[in-house]
Amino acid sequence: MKIFATRQLPEQILKAIESEGITVNQWAEKREMTKDEFLAEAAEAEGLFIMGGFKITADVIEALPGLKVISLMSVGYDNVDIKAATTHKIAVGHTPDVLSKATADTAFLLMLATSRKAFFHHKRIHKGEWKFFDPLANVGIDIHNKTLGVFGLGNIGFEMARLCKSAYGMDIIYHNRSTNKKAEDELGARKVTFDELLSQSDIISVHANLTPETKEVFNASAFSKMKPNAIFVNAGRGGIHNETDLKEALDNGTIWGAGLDVTNPEPMGADNRLLDMPNVSVLPHIGSAVKETREAMLELATENILAGLKGEKLPKCVNHEIYN
Ligand code: DGY
Repeated sequence: MKIFATRQLPEQILKAIESEGITVNQWAEKREMTKDEFLAEAAEAEGLFIMGGFKITADVIEALPGLKVISLMSVGYDNVDIKAATTHKIAVGHTPDVLSKATADTAFLLMLATSRKAFFHHKRIHKGEWKFFDPLANVGIDIHNKTLGVFGLGNIGFEMARLCKSAYGMDIIYHNRSTNKKAEDELGARKVTFDELLSQSDIISVHANLTPETKEVFNASAFSKMKPNAIFVNAGRGGIHNETDLKEALDNGTIWGAGLDVTNPEPMGADNRLLDMPNVSVLPHIGSAVKETREAMLELATENILAGLKGEKLPKCVNHEIYN
């Protein structure tokens, strides 16, 4: 059996897979591959170990007739055409739960950093601009006892809400398709309409999946309904906000600031104007990037791919329908 991994796997993971008699082909270059390169590398693969956001479109799936399983080292699966995978009875695995706390920490970090303009002040020192104390210049905003609005209250959104409630006594509102009873019982969270979320939140934190319904739902119209002192945090997917509209909302003072772990597009260019805005904090999609979490994600992704190759149910499967 053969698999293709889109990044180099750590030695112990490689050994664990190879000890099952599986041959692993790995992409070793430090650049994203083209589709043709991907198809050449993955030609004989029965399993794909996807690290990063390489797009597995329907034509990619159709070009790999031996494929049995796609194992993503991520909770998000918007880079895979799930419908096409399901049609071809290919199991898609992902890594939920193990990264919830680490990813919520990143959202919390961005909220706090943005509220105090921390990234901007760091850059000021670097540029030699820390010369004179002006008590009224470049001050932040207080986030104690404010209202957090969570867009997409799953496990990561729950952890973010829990942090904000315990650290800052925030009220929690959320917008979701389904009711999150645990968040309502434990955090007193209230489910609201999208418009209520926009108009009532002091901080909006995005943790939803990117789907046709959530694509660029944070656009000019949405920003215009938010409070002028609001902070927009996105640790979900960059495609959920429209970047041009976000810049305009920040320029015009329609909203106060933004903290982004994900950008639209990714990667963000070094000359992006958002990087020069005092009230904006940007990170390069490092939501779950702590050693312990990444190890747990690798382990789960390995369990998924091994199960798929053996024809067993994946421990964490996106498209359960294939087992019906
Ligand atoms: C995830 O797990 O979905 C992270 O955003 C990494 O892509």
